[in-house]
Order: sequence, then structure tokens, then C-alpha cells
Amino acid sequence: MRSFIGRDILSLKDWERAEYFRVFEIADELAPVARNRSNCDLLSDKTLLTAFYQPSTRTRLATEAAMHRLGGHVLGFSDAKMTRAGDFYQESIKDTVHMLEYYGDVIAMRHHQQGAPHEAAKWASVPVINCGDGWGEHPTQVLTDLYTIWKERGTIDGLHFMCIGDMRMRTMHSIGYAMAQFDVEATLISPPEMSPTDEFKQELADLNLRFREVKTSAEAIADADVIYMEPVVQADYTKARVEVTEDKGITPAAYRVTRELLRDKAKPDCIILHSLPRMDELPTDVDHTRHARYWEEAFNGVVMRMALLSLILGAME
Ligand code: CP
Repeated sequence: MRSFIGRDILSLKDWERAEYFRVFEIADELAPVARNRSNCDLLSDKTLLTAFYQPSTRTRLATEAAMHRLGGHVLGFSDAKMTRAGDFYQESIKDTVHMLEYYGDVIAMRHHQQGAPHEAAKWASVPVINCGDGWGEHPTQVLTDLYTIWKERGTIDGLHFMCIGDMRMRTMHSIGYAMAQFDVEATLISPPEMSPTDEFKQELADLNLRFREVKTSAEAIADADVIYMEPVVQADYTKARVEVTEDKGITPAAYRVTRELLRDKAKPDCIILHSLPRMDELPTDVDHTRHARYWEEAFNGVVMRMALLSLILGAME
């Protein structure tokens, strides 16, 4: 297994199976620190730099919380408009990271341009973590999802995933690549205009992932051990910011998972993950069913980033 020390976390495309389990083990080891709401001093001599060019609630704050739990320092920006990248100068990624690399020991970046963290990693002498790049990928979210499944179901192998929502989404790309490292089957459900691209389907086929596409949640839910959801009432992830419109639209029944559908058709032990934020595809009354696991992900998201930061910065091996 490759060492994590100094590694960029840009994509799950090249992750090996053993690496997932190593990260899960470290997450388990560090979880008591977060569970006890305490901080330790594992990274007390390190600084995390968060460079967020696109809005975030969970990813930025969970990554920053993780660094605080590890005793490290945090600085950064959450609105590029207040930097030179977001004003008259439109400063390039290259010039920006040539600055940032001297202000911290690891850069966590979210960007509306697909590939921006990869471009940053080309120029930065410190590791870069992709916290979501346009429609590209969202590796730390999917590591959190997989860790949650592993904790809740005790395994990932042998499970059937029902992935439902906008297949252009960065989470769907990362989970597609990740699923290929496990003995799983996947059913993909999306509106035609949000369906997986031929290129993505070819990539999944080349990775030997067993997957099929169906048209509605009702057709697939009985097989599902894990329901993995994204909205189809969706923002444009290529934009730095999307303002709210008066009529956002409603989600057709085919792409919703309701309490009634779960009651009538789902396996009793099937679990639901959603990276959030949600729209109407996942009604709030599902929160009070035994299937919901998306709130557990809030805790696991901190623990997962603790594991990644400590591995990348060499405090764990
Ligand atoms: N899951 C996720 O990426 O949420 P945020 O956009 O709030 O970070």
C-alpha cells in the first residue's frame, strides 16, 4: 500500500482497496477524540489552509473542525470575492497557491472549475485536498459515506447500492470509482438530462463495476442495501455561486425516496445516505425512520477528515 504522507487527495479513481480500510482504521482510532468533544495535540505544529471558491456548510467546517480536534491551526477564505482571485485581478490558481503554500502545511480546496485542485497540486509544494471541484469529484465526502456504510453495516462487500439523483454530480463520480474497489452491485437512477455520460459509464465498465440503469426508485428499491441520494433540483456546480430563484421546481416521484416507498418496498435494514443539502427528493419525515443515516455522517465527516489530515501530514502511518 502506498504511503499517505505528503499525498494529494484529488480523486478516488486511483485509490486501492487496502487504502480505504487503512483510512477507516485510523478514523476509528481517532474517533474517541471527537466523540468526547476533546482536542488532542497530534497536529499541534501544523496549519490547515482552506481555500473555498464555492459555498459549503459541511465540507469546509468538518475539515476545519477536524484540524481543531487534532490540535492544529486553521486559516483560509470561504468567499473568493474577498481575495485577489475574485476581484479585478482574477489571480490565477498558480499564483494563488504559490502564496498559500507558505501560509500552511496542507491546502483544502473547493472550486467551481473541474480540475482546479489538480492544477493547484501541480504548483503547490504542500498536499492539496479536493473538497469538491465543479462537477468533477468529491473524495472526502465519499470517504465519509463509505466509512459510514462500513460502520453501520459492518461491510461494504456484498451490498447493493441504489444511486439516485443527478449523475453529473461530483459525489456520483467519486462513489462510482470507489464502488469498483468493492464486491458491490450498483443501480443508477437519474432523469435523462442528468444521466451518466458515456465516458463515465465506460470508465465504470473499465473498472469492472457491475452496474445497471433503471428509470425509477420504485423499480430498484427492493434490491437496495444502501440508497445513495443527490437532488435533481440542482444548482449549477460550474458557477462560483448560484442565487435562489423563485421557482426551483419539484422532484418527480421517480427520483424521490419517501417514507411510504420505504415502508412498502425497501429491505428492513436498508440505509440511506445523502451528502446534503437536500431538496424535496428526501422528505423530512424519512429522518424519523430506521433507514436514515445522513446525520451520522456529520460526525463521521469530522472523523474522516481527522484521519486524512493525520495521515497526509505524517502523524499516523
Ligand atoms: N456534502 C457537501 O459537500 O456539503 P457542503 O456543500 O455543505 O460542503
